[in-house]
Amino acid sequence: AKKLGSKKERTLAMIKPDSITKVGEIIQKIYDANLIVTKAKMTKFSWKQAADFYSEHQSKSFFNNLVQFMTSGSVIAMELMGDEAVSVWRKLLGPTDSSVAQKEASTSLRAQFGTDGTKNAGHGSDSLASAARELEFFFPSTAGHSPSSTAKFTDS
Ligand code: PPS
Repeated sequence: AKKLGSKKERTLAMIKPDSITKVGEIIQKIYDANLIVTKAKMTKFSWKQAADFYSEHQSKSFFNNLVQFMTSGSVIAMELMGDEAVSVWRKLLGPTDSSVAQKEASTSLRAQFGTDGTKNAGHGSDSLASAARELEFFFPSTAGHSPSSTAKFTDS
């Protein structure tokens, strides 16, 4: 039954290169958390695409390391839908640094599948605004498509 006062949301979930072989267990946990997968795409970031996706962190000391890791293998991007999807998925992921997640002895995905601050299993949009931007990045809407709206991961 739908909880009173709950809000249906969409968010962008990504399985990072270190955890691509855990896709089965991760999707199971998504459904166990009452979210559904409404879109999915397996792809590999170019350097430019990863730098673009993470552009808000371009001034951070870890930026190059982050882009290096995110381009080291395939990722799976998913649109998740459900009540409070943004926060539910972030909670499933757990603390950003997997070594911190493991110290909390948590059952989070980062505690279970990640390693450290770089190899941390997954990504989740941190707000509804980020979700809108990140979903558009992986799953661009075709309506109103113009030459100026550069397609990121559309088939060409
Ligand atoms: S910040 O500064 O608080 O905004 O950064 P944070 O939220 O901790 O992390 C933002 C994303 O950067 C990744 N990250 C790193 N990658 C590689 N190496 C290091 N040292 C590192 N530190 C943080 C972190 O995993 C976050 O990635 P996403 O995909 O957004 O979870």
